[in-house]
Amino acid sequence: MSVLVLGGAGYIGSHAVYQLIDQKRKVVVIDNLETGHREAVHPEATFYQGDIRNIGFLREIFEKESIDSVVHFAANSLVGESMEDPLKYFDNNVHGTQVLLQVMKEHDVKVIVFSSTAATYGEPESVPITEKMRTEPTNTYGETKLTMEKLMKWCEAAHGIRHVSLRYFNVAGARKSGEIGEDHQPETHLIPIILQVALGQREHISIFGNNYNTPDGTCIRDYIHVEDLINAHLLALNYLKQGGKSDVFNLGSSQGFSVKEMIETARNVTNKDIPARTAKRRAGDPSVLIASSEKARNTLGWNPTRTSINEIMKDAWNWHRNNPNGYKRM
Ligand code: UFG
Repeated sequence: MSVLVLGGAGYIGSHAVYQLIDQKRKVVVIDNLETGHREAVHPEATFYQGDIRNIGFLREIFEKESIDSVVHFAANSLVGESMEDPLKYFDNNVHGTQVLLQVMKEHDVKVIVFSSTAATYGEPESVPITEKMRTEPTNTYGETKLTMEKLMKWCEAAHGIRHVSLRYFNVAGARKSGEIGEDHQPETHLIPIILQVALGQREHISIFGNNYNTPDGTCIRDYIHVEDLINAHLLALNYLKQGGKSDVFNLGSSQGFSVKEMIETARNVTNKDIPARTAKRRAGDPSVLIASSEKARNTLGWNPTRTSINEIMKDAWNWHRNNPNGYKRM
């Protein structure tokens, strides 16, 4: 039997495929390559290029392959873009998931691990954020992920499809052995942008706001190593296969670092100057996001081991230094 990974050519999905194959699992990947990279797909995975909204295409694959579980990363994930083009996000993220659940139902596939986000919480009441806190997304991206979670909840009630939703905080780093890493076009995430400055590809990093209510005035985020993050997916798959009930878990490292601290960490790791300039706030940025991941530790037995911010930065730097143009030159 195979695990179907949707979005397995993307940054996070590709790391999941590598770790599943490390565990000797058979993996089928679907990706429309809108943002993913064919080169990021593990050579031992069976790859199909196509869109999950295409029900005929999806049915064909479920008929051809023996799929017993799904890990779902196939979604658009840019907060800014989601505010400018909300319908794109409802179409790809929500409608795509609806089609997927329809085909899972038809083929009696009852287990799904879902890539969700801390953006489902919106501006938190307090930190650390637990799964019990209210969910009031402040952007369309978070709203679509919350809606996808709700779709799964009702499909469990009606069709017995069990799911684990993993709400990610700030995913960073790259596979230690260096084959794959982060390559977004355009890049909007803090760590890759800082490292592009270190590589001389940008003149400076803009710090979006220095007057937040934090010790140094810049936003604080909870950075989690992509390999620790994927470990939680593997545990969640086993949990569901052993009959675990549907649930939602936060994934973060439970520690916060400010934008300025991240730039300083990058200066130490790369030994480069990395000029920084203060710019105006970016719309919709909460000042502090830190996860409580106690529930994932207690229920899934998750034990993140790559929580040092230096190590996260080093693994990201290793990828960016060796692949300054991402997958283009591989
Ligand atoms: N930042 C800068 N300069 C930049 C880029 C980012 O100062 O050039 C700041 C942002 O303002 C923010 C922090 O760095 O304070 C981190 O920004 P990212 O864009 O790297 O990440 P976000 O926290 O905005 O978002 C991430 C994911 C989202 C997810 C969210 C949930 O990218 O998909 O975490 O917490 F929804």
